[in-house]
Amino acid sequence: MAGLTRRGLLRAGLGALPLVQLPMTRQALAAAGVPVGAAVMIEDLRSDPRIKDALIRYCDVVVPMNELKWEALRHSRAGFDYSAADEVITFARRNGKGLRGHTLVWHDGLPAWARTIGSRAEAERELTLHIETVVARYRGIMPVWDVVNEVVSHEAPPDAPLRDSIWLRHLGPGYIETAFRLAAAADPKARLVINDYDLENTGARTARRRAEILRLIRSLKDKGVPVHGLGMQAHLYAEREIDVGGLQQFLAELARLEVSLAITELDVIDWRLPADVAARDAAAARLVAGFLKTVIDVRKPESVITWGLTDRSSWISGTFRRSDGLPNRPLPLDADYRPKPMMRVLEGVRRGWN
Ligand code: G3I
Repeated sequence: MAGLTRRGLLRAGLGALPLVQLPMTRQALAAAGVPVGAAVMIEDLRSDPRIKDALIRYCDVVVPMNELKWEALRHSRAGFDYSAADEVITFARRNGKGLRGHTLVWHDGLPAWARTIGSRAEAERELTLHIETVVARYRGIMPVWDVVNEVVSHEAPPDAPLRDSIWLRHLGPGYIETAFRLAAAADPKARLVINDYDLENTGARTARRRAEILRLIRSLKDKGVPVHGLGMQAHLYAEREIDVGGLQQFLAELARLEVSLAITELDVIDWRLPADVAARDAAAARLVAGFLKTVIDVRKPESVITWGLTDRSSWISGTFRRSDGLPNRPLPLDADYRPKPMMRVLEGVRRGWN
């Protein structure tokens, strides 16, 4: 591998970071200009004008974080409420931003009534109604959908590789195929994606998860099911090691299956990183740079999306609290909207690293 040029490193904002080692192949250099973006939740869009400015400035793509989930669209069984989703989508479109649709089928993010779905017929009826209605409503507006989210089980044991959910329980594994076919029928031009997490680290569990994703995509493709892409969430644990070889092999395999790749929920779980802010931010930026470099060496992602934009608002603060009580710093902007080293990495990816 050739070394990343000093100029490229400096332009990516990494020149000053300690221990940054980013060897770069010609392929990666050719991967100039990957669109970047962020998910945003409606509460933040409504309450903090600074988030709009930041999305306009830093993002090519805006993703409604929660507003297209069942709990938002179908909080009442009686109908569909698009108000919050439309607000985010209109903001994105008015500002010339791309979009991703997250998500049509998930075990979580369900309103209370949907959690009580009790039979195959009811599950089939609701799933069909949901996908047909939502995808058709955003036909021509939403270019890509996370059709299924997190369908591989956490441990992915060989005897139960798929996650338990109301969908699996009532419809069996065939619900995945059904969901893709329904989405394709409702919008034949939309790109249809499987979105999942924990695919990047070393260890047997992650390897099983990667194998299961490949098995799933292969079996769908063999049946002629329109599956176009994989979304890697990439919630990166700072204390875990990226499996460079395993990940690159996985991505090469995906390419052979003619499936595209997007990084869909990038952030850094920093609960085990040092308290010192500069050291922590540098470590987070190095992790993101190393991860993206590993990916881009093999595959140019369609987009790189962070799950939020500012440390002010992230799911990580609720889920991975630090034992020292300090606020988490998982995202590219700090809580005062100042760009952190991670943002310089993303800006570098956005421009191309050279
Ligand atoms: O909007 C309501 C608000 O009106 C109400 O007062 C409040 C009280 O509970 O809840 C608000 O909604 C919450 C919403 O976040 C906005 O804050 C939901 O209850 C809460 O469940 C929701 O959490 C989201 C979670 O998914 C479940 O949908 C997180 O923000 C979101 O970051 C998280 O995102 C997931 C991805 O979709 C899939 N991958 C993992 C990722 C992190 O868990």
